[in-house]
Amino acid sequence: MAVDCAALIEAARAARLRAFAPYSSFKVGAALEAADGTIITGCNVENSTYGLTVCAERVAVLKAVSEGYREFRRVAVVADTQDPTPPCGPCRQILWEFCGDIEVVLANLTDEKGRHQMKDLLPLPFDARLLG
Ligand code: THU
Repeated sequence: MAVDCAALIEAARAARLRAFAPYSSFKVGAALEAADGTIITGCNVENSTYGLTVCAERVAVLKAVSEGYREFRRVAVVADTQDPTPPCGPCRQILWEFCGDIEVVLANLTDEKGRHQMKDLLPLPFDARLLG
């Protein structure tokens, strides 16, 4: 069953509250909708070495894959910003690998801020098709 988009955004907002972001204070939440309607969430998890920080989107994807989910419909990303917070480059690559051309819904704490297709966020992707 398809998940209501508002519910997916709410799940990302709730996940954001669990962010571990003592270094940037920039908390992000992500909620991934699997094909069966299950919602898998993620938050950013920072590290004192900075470079080991993992974004909310990647946490959500890796949690989902490790739990056996392989097909996805949408992802919602929430941050406390006026402008939408889109996935960073590495997250786009990871989202493309496991989710393909899903819809990416961006929102802040009060409003939805936009919807995009992954193919538009990552044009000309490198992926398994090129490995032959
Ligand atoms: N961050 C995310 O979790 N997702 C994004 O889409 C953008 C950036 C995190 C990484 C870091 O913990 C903090 O936001 C500031 O870059």
